[in-house]
Amino acid sequence: MTSDLAPELCRPERNAGCSLDDLTKALGDLLEGEPSKASGAAVAELLRQYAACEGSWRPYVTFREDTYSRNLIWRTDKFELLLLGWEAGQESPIHDHAGQQCWMAVLEGELEEVHFKEGDLAPAGDGISGLRQGRVKAFPTGGVAYIHDDIALHLIRPRAGQRAVSLHLYSSPIDSCRKFCPDTGKAEEVNVAYHTVRGSGCSGTDPELIRDAWIR
Ligand code: SIN
Repeated sequence: MTSDLAPELCRPERNAGCSLDDLTKALGDLLEGEPSKASGAAVAELLRQYAACEGSWRPYVTFREDTYSRNLIWRTDKFELLLLGWEAGQESPIHDHAGQQCWMAVLEGELEEVHFKEGDLAPAGDGISGLRQGRVKAFPTGGVAYIHDDIALHLIRPRAGQRAVSLHLYSSPIDSCRKFCPDTGKAEEVNVAYHTVRGSGCSGTDPELIRDAWIR
């Protein structure tokens, strides 16, 4: 498929010397077939190994004042790999994962994941109606989390006062999901976008153009 996008926004060739590319290749080998629960542990192990010893992600991460950043590293029709850059005080909205699987590896700093369940009456005094808050868990650098919609909704935020960087693997890619109002529990379908693609800025670019450019 051809595209009007700048060449740097189009899907690059994998670079044999780059271990981030080695990771995407290994993930592809696991996920290009039907995703299964059996391969979930293997995916988590690949991410854990990468998070334990790799700094090859550094050129691709960005930080923004207005929101946490979403930086695309690799995308196929079976999965997408993103780097998220979190400034202190930022957090994702409470959201679902559109029926897809999500793994998160912490590359720098510490991230907190808060689970929510939909449709229950809130216990009095927790400030959330229509959503029930579940467990809160901290993931230090090197930690790997996993979630899908049967487990919970969640939000992610860095440890208070600190920056963090995380690697997110979605299988399959997520182009829209439901975001929940923390006060009313009301859900809204939202499209998700990228701020950079392989280190090149793309804010404002129609995400559909980017997706098309990465389909082969
Ligand atoms: C996001 O991808 O924008 C939020 C992080 C997550 O769902 O894990």
